[in-house]
Amino acid sequence: MSSNKTKVTVVGAGAVGASCAEYIAIKNFASEVVLLDIKEGFAEGKAMDLMQTASLNSFDTRIIGSTNDYTKTADSDICVITSGIPRKPGMTREELIGINAGIVKSVCESLIKHSPNTIIIVVSNPMDTMTYLAHQVTGLPKNRIIGMGGALDSARFKYRLAEALACPISDIDGMVIGGHSDKGMVPLTAHATRNSIKVSEFISDERLSQVKEDTKVGGATLTKLLGTSAWYAPGAAVSGLVQAIACDQKKMFPCSVLLEGEYGLSGLCIGVPVILGANGIEKIVEIKLSDAEKAHLLESAEGVKKTNALLA
Ligand code: LAC
Repeated sequence: MSSNKTKVTVVGAGAVGASCAEYIAIKNFASEVVLLDIKEGFAEGKAMDLMQTASLNSFDTRIIGSTNDYTKTADSDICVITSGIPRKPGMTREELIGINAGIVKSVCESLIKHSPNTIIIVVSNPMDTMTYLAHQVTGLPKNRIIGMGGALDSARFKYRLAEALACPISDIDGMVIGGHSDKGMVPLTAHATRNSIKVSEFISDERLSQVKEDTKVGGATLTKLLGTSAWYAPGAAVSGLVQAIACDQKKMFPCSVLLEGEYGLSGLCIGVPVILGANGIEKIVEIKLSDAEKAHLLESAEGVKKTNALLA
């Protein structure tokens, strides 16, 4: 049987939502995943298809699909919001705000009605602004609203670093903070390591700058190749956050969280390192940044605030 009784809801059964459900199920830590979508029968179909992988992939997590029936989501411990439209090639995440803000607002209201004690993970774009909106709509304490961006961007950073160092990704450690946007991401190149040795020992500054640029446009590169937004790495990144909360792991991830003075910033949600456990965000970790990193983070925050200002 699954190791705990966590109930997870994933709203949006598109590629990202379905991947979230799949990775959560495969890791076999949750008792139930409810997949919801507004398209008639779609979530039911995805859930059934995924459940038919259970015997093949050896998981006991029950996946239930529903066409927008929020009563099925009642008493969820964690709710993941992936609803909204994904970007098309050439679009920025910020351009999605008009449509996605309305969707995220109504999804938040419906979720909270049935699961007042839930922890919400926001994936919909523009993610930092949608996370801020989730705060405004639900009024939940700040530890219970988490934006997923940094975990994904960091995975892409590690992928690019391993490529540049021609080494296994498991040798690499690194983190991306800041806004989840092409311009706003702040890959912490000076902190990145290969088995505790700074990556700058292995590659030139020029190559490291290239890694940084490739990381920042990680999502855009995939959108161009796929014709729509990526889903495997976003789904896997969400499942990592959900597992850290469900299993009270106290793991550190960069997540978009409401800042109240940390890093000299307040009144916005943006990616910084946090500790995730049973209470959601258990701590915001303030690390020492170089002057250049600080400046980049402040600039990123300005960008996020500009997008926030577009909320009605
Ligand atoms: C991406 C989307 C999930 O970066 O924002 O792929």
